[in-house]
Amino acid sequence: MLTTGTWPRYSVDLFQDDALNDPFPHYHAIRELGAAVQLDIPDVVAIGRFKDVQAALRNPEILISGEGVGFNAIANAPIPNPPTIRSDGARHRRLRSVLSKPLMPAALKERRDMLKAMIATRIDELVGGETFDAVTTVAQHLPLQAVSYLVGLPEEDRQQMLRWASASFNSAGPYTTIDTDDPELAADLETTLSVKAYFQSVDRAHLRPGSWAASLFDAVDAGKLEKPEAHAAISGLVLPSLDTTIYAKGNLLYNLASNPDQWAALKADPSLVPSAVLEGVRHSAVVRWFSRVAASDYDVGDVQVPAGTRVMLLYGSANRDERRYADPDRFDVTRNPVCQLGWGTGPHMCAGMHLARLEMEVMLEALLDRVETIEAGEPRLGNNRSLYGIDHLPMRFT
Ligand code: HEM
Repeated sequence: MLTTGTWPRYSVDLFQDDALNDPFPHYHAIRELGAAVQLDIPDVVAIGRFKDVQAALRNPEILISGEGVGFNAIANAPIPNPPTIRSDGARHRRLRSVLSKPLMPAALKERRDMLKAMIATRIDELVGGETFDAVTTVAQHLPLQAVSYLVGLPEEDRQQMLRWASASFNSAGPYTTIDTDDPELAADLETTLSVKAYFQSVDRAHLRPGSWAASLFDAVDAGKLEKPEAHAAISGLVLPSLDTTIYAKGNLLYNLASNPDQWAALKADPSLVPSAVLEGVRHSAVVRWFSRVAASDYDVGDVQVPAGTRVMLLYGSANRDERRYADPDRFDVTRNPVCQLGWGTGPHMCAGMHLARLEMEVMLEALLDRVETIEAGEPRLGNNRSLYGIDHLPMRFT
């Protein structure tokens, strides 16, 4: 067994812009170095191979979320009333069972036709026209016009959801003081702190009755949650419900446009839509990483990670592991990667996965019905420190 100081090291800072823009060579290098690799910045042990990330996510008794899942002391600081993603054990199960109810396939089924009609109308407006930005016109359409409404915050707060989400995901990166040199990061930290306070102060009377957020307080009435728990769970509906799916759709559209053979395969056989959606998230995983803390010693391959170590789980790397997938860098709509880690696995597996899949499926179905060819210009990748995706994508539908 390798013990502290004897396991492989990787000294590239994964949070620098170059690495954020193209993390894949670094993921490959980390996988090649070993099952667990010490990073210098931040001071964590990174796990990048599929089977080890999967095992780690399925070991919540040892690799806990309660000490935070980010990479700096502010993001991970103890808070009195942590949200689902930062809870363990019985509390986590309680929050999650209520939060995920409206996001389960049975509940979403009745939304499918409405979401498909909305995205179809948008695509009709674009076919045969000028070049447009696929992120703002297509990928953002359902999240901003429908999902934010379903979440149910008051109108003026709905407008801020995108900004809040991007700030929260970005500020999970490794820096330790609010006096950071980077004004953008400093602003994101400020925003994140004020959003945490906002969730605690949300007034039930201002939530849209029947909305997903309101259902958390209905669960309080039914004795399933304590009121502070309902406040804590709101963040799980607000923060991850927009950016993630927007990036996933932008990445998928770009992959289809830049692989005309794959677009042709999909046109020839629309039953491949669910597979193409899964492949989009496998190939270009939106959530780059989260972390856990080892509550006791934890073995990964030939490495013994000591209790107290912060472990970095590289979802995007696991999904490109050549030990798991043949030709992993290839985008292949026939691959049907049901078993993948783009949405995580284990007890914290994404609670919004079915919604994300639904949004992407109806977008592809509407496209296949209306569009012969899709062409993309040069994408501009974002450099969010937790999420991988395209911020701007010139595109044309013919
Ligand atoms: C393609 C889009 C999405 C991707 C790639 C994604 C990815 C992920 C990942 C990797 C996790 C695991 C976190 C961990 O291991 O600690 C997660 C958790 C979570 N996601 Fe998503 N997500 C997406 C969309 C959504 C949406 C639309 C929602 C809500 C409407 C959502 C809500 C959540 C929640 C609440 C958790 C925490 C679950 C828990 O701690 O039990 N996500 N997501």
